[in-house]
Amino acid sequence: MKRLATVLTVFSLTGLGSTALAESHVDPAIAGAIKARQAHMQLYAHNIGVLGGMARERIPYDAEAAQAAASNIAALSTLNQSTYWPEGSDTSVEGSRALAAIWENLDDVMSKSEDLVMAAAVMEDAAGQGLGALQGAIGGLGGACGACHEDYRQSDD
Ligand code: HEC
Repeated sequence: MKRLATVLTVFSLTGLGSTALAESHVDPAIAGAIKARQAHMQLYAHNIGVLGGMARERIPYDAEAAQAAASNIAALSTLNQSTYWPEGSDTSVEGSRALAAIWENLDDVMSKSEDLVMAAAVMEDAAGQGLGALQGAIGGLGGACGACHEDYRQSDD
């Protein structure tokens, strides 16, 4: 038991968990930034999934749940994300789909981030106001995600 605890401590101190071992050729700062932004994106996806499900009437409209999801997206969109995007953390690093074009077009990337902040604010005002209001705002919100992915995220194929 004591030995196991020691081994676990050594692992956590050196950051040599199984994932880190697999990625040991990647600069840990870069790997961490990629994980952080992908987690951020997953939080967007989870919350927009709730709103999208209601908009398409696959799940019943619930004003409180819609409001919570919209407020989460709005809050996330305004977090300072600058440390998530170190130069070189692009598709040359295994596991990232961030195109190198990001670092050549930072003004445009920022402007697309701003578009998301605005679309998220519109959704935050609308989501709790009824299904019609939510449906009116979902296109703008999804469009703001898609516009950035279109130019700066490697496509699936
Ligand atoms: C300003 C650009 C930008 C905006 C806006 C944006 N994304 Fe992304 N997204 C990216 C990039 C770049 C990646 C690839 C990141 C990587 O793999 O390193 C990504 C990746 C993702 C992923 C995959 C995450 C993973 O685990 O690999 C999901 C899901 C996602 N985005 C959802 C969203 C949703 C939902 C929105 C809108 C609420 C959104 N994104 C808005 C640029 C953006």
